[in-house]
Amino acid sequence: MTQTNRQLILQSRPKGLCAPGDLQLTETPLPALTDGQALARVKYLSIDPTMRVWMAVDTYLPAVPIGEVMRAAGLAEVVESRHKDFKKGDKVVGLTGLQDYCVIDPAGKRGSFRKVPAIPFISDTAFLGVLGVTGITAYFGMMDIAKPQKGETLVVSAAAGATGSIAGQIGKIQGCRVVGIAGGPEKCKWLTDELGFDAAIDYKQADWKEKLAAATPKGVDIDYENAGGEIMHEVLQRMNLHGRVVLCGLISGYTKEDPALESFATILRKRLRVQGFIVLDYLDRFMEAATQLGKWKMFGKLKDRETIVEGLEKTPDAINMLFTGGNIGKTIVKV
Ligand SMILES: NC(=O)c1ccc[n+]([C@@H]2O[C@H](COP(=O)([O-])OP(=O)(O)OC[C@H]3O[C@@H](n4cnc5c(N)ncnc54)[C@H](OP(=O)(O)O)[C@@H]3O)[C@@H](O)[C@H]2O)c1
Repeated sequence: MTQTNRQLILQSRPKGLCAPGDLQLTETPLPALTDGQALARVKYLSIDPTMRVWMAVDTYLPAVPIGEVMRAAGLAEVVESRHKDFKKGDKVVGLTGLQDYCVIDPAGKRGSFRKVPAIPFISDTAFLGVLGVTGITAYFGMMDIAKPQKGETLVVSAAAGATGSIAGQIGKIQGCRVVGIAGGPEKCKWLTDELGFDAAIDYKQADWKEKLAAATPKGVDIDYENAGGEIMHEVLQRMNLHGRVVLCGLISGYTKEDPALESFATILRKRLRVQGFIVLDYLDRFMEAATQLGKWKMFGKLKDRETIVEGLEKTPDAINMLFTGGNIGKTIVKV
């Protein structure tokens, strides 16, 4: 085992996309373990839009302090243990940070880690995607907040991404007409041909608003909102009275200084029920979601896809892909 740990340290708060130098690659000696700790080798990192937010401002979690290892979720394998709950070889998911090795503390001092079960035909990386935080977010956003009814029309934005692709498929399982909004023909084709969406709208085409109207002839009952901005504004105009808006994310604003949030007059006029949520609200029910998602996946009702980027040092590029649309499905860095 190597004695050094490569880490990506937050050096400056990005303006726009991550710039070279915002995250600095450094090497530090591996820490000696004390009683109650375990050391784990990070294998895969979950790349999430919220990382760009954590780099810049305090939100539902405080911003990462300058000079500290960048916060990130990941999957790691225990290589040495003085922790009563973990033994060498255990695979775990949790907030590993952007680094080669992470220390698991007693009683989750730096956030809790969960063991990854070995399930036939399920890859380890699924626990960062369809059976991990993004899948679980889609599950609760749809099942707890949207509460879809058969025959309703659901529109999902960032639909070919990790969360949107699962939210849309859950809508299909529940009997909705599902319309996805995504950037580019390849993503739209994947949504309709592979995932069974009823329609997919390429918002990078000039006539996307007309296409959205044509694809939602009975209006929209549920907006699963991941994008915000102009996309959200347009979907809200198509909403039926008393519709539900699941405010999951507003990615179009994350790289801007002043993410102007419009459309609240429409919410009022149409008596829409809008609910924002953070998946951490559901921590004690994660197992329920993962079990149901796992069943749907095993019975072929849910498909997932991953965009894998190789190398810890490529993480800033992987984060930027989320904002330029370079990913399909769940984005993961293979360390
Ligand atoms: N509330 C929660 O607890 C929670 C938890 C997880 C994720 N989220 C939110 O869910 C959303 C999706 O996250 P994810 O992890 O699943 O990422 P993702 O969808 O896999 O990747 C982000 C996608 O957003 C799209 N996008 C980027 N800029 C855009 C813009 N200006 N307008 C429209 N689309 C844009 C890109 O696809 P295109 O090529 O289609 O543009 C990109 O692929 C984010 O808003 C995130 O913050 C919320």
